[in-house]
Amino acid sequence: MRILILGGAGYIGSHVVREFLDNGAEVTVFDNLSSGLRENLFPEAAFVHGSILDYDSLRRAMSEGFDAMVHLAAFKAAGESMIAPEKYSVNNISGTINILNAAAETGIRRFIFSSSAAVYGEPEYLPIDENHPLNPENYYGFTKLEIERILSWYDQLKEIKFAALRYFNAAGYDPTGRITGLEQNPANLLPIIMEVAAGTRPALSIFGDDYNTPDGTGIRDYVHVSDLAAAHYQAFRYLEAKNTSLTVNLGSESGLSVREILDTARRITGKEIPARVAPRRPGDPAKLVASSRLARERLGWKALHSDVESLAATSWQVYKSADA
Ligand code: UD1
Repeated sequence: MRILILGGAGYIGSHVVREFLDNGAEVTVFDNLSSGLRENLFPEAAFVHGSILDYDSLRRAMSEGFDAMVHLAAFKAAGESMIAPEKYSVNNISGTINILNAAAETGIRRFIFSSSAAVYGEPEYLPIDENHPLNPENYYGFTKLEIERILSWYDQLKEIKFAALRYFNAAGYDPTGRITGLEQNPANLLPIIMEVAAGTRPALSIFGDDYNTPDGTGIRDYVHVSDLAAAHYQAFRYLEAKNTSLTVNLGSESGLSVREILDTARRITGKEIPARVAPRRPGDPAKLVASSRLARERLGWKALHSDVESLAATSWQVYKSADA
């Protein structure tokens, strides 16, 4: 099994690489290291330092004969995408078109795509299943949805079978401590809480405590990154066995509030973690929870590490090394 992982030096990508290596795959990582880290590379995997915007080097890397590729080489900051959409158009959309064209040229016929719950936008009902209307509220989510639509056409026209994995809120670190790279300038809740715990950030701003939720803070569906990683391997097996494309949600199916995560992090780290209530962040819904029934049925996938303690403990295991 030979797998090319685009964006394999990133936070989620490195966990996906680990999962394929653990299952005996021969892995090549292709990454421009713009947010990926050398520290996240494993000696067992080959590494190509390249950009998905450079068609020739992409095609060269892809022509080595792979059974599948996993694409996680994207920008993912929803807020930034509303200020700098050009960056998201070029990297996320044009970059993926390059990959698909190179796949068509080099004969890679299985494509596992890192999509997002951001394709749904403001929820019309909960839990969100794959039939929920698609109305992204930010440009980042729009890029993921556009790519899913392009994937359907390349499936029809170029016989490239895809698995679009719609992640909910990825969090946590490899429970056995093999991945230690810290994201630079994280925008997501748990890494921010961890930076405060480690003393590299002064305080957490809680974006609103007047939502219509039990404790007033926003509720999200946090899914452990190693559970996400497992789904990529299962998706590869699915594409291999069925030769048919698939779009599934990946979430834990349970909601955690900002306060629940903060309280757990305080308990697990033993740190005060100063927090103050700030205004709501524009575009933030009160509550998002996934239905992952389809992933369970089609892939046999199950979230095994996505409880709040594992999310906080596996993160702290890595962040405590930055403790000042
Ligand atoms: C965000 C993106 C989503 C993207 C996902 C993965 C938005 C609206 N959504 O999800 O499109 O797929 O990241 O990168 O940007 N919070 C605080 N204080 C903070 C940070 C977050 O209170 O400093 C709260 C938020 O209001 C929210 C929860 O924590 O209720 C989770 O926020 P975050 O980690 O940013 O993820 P999402 O906004 O759910």
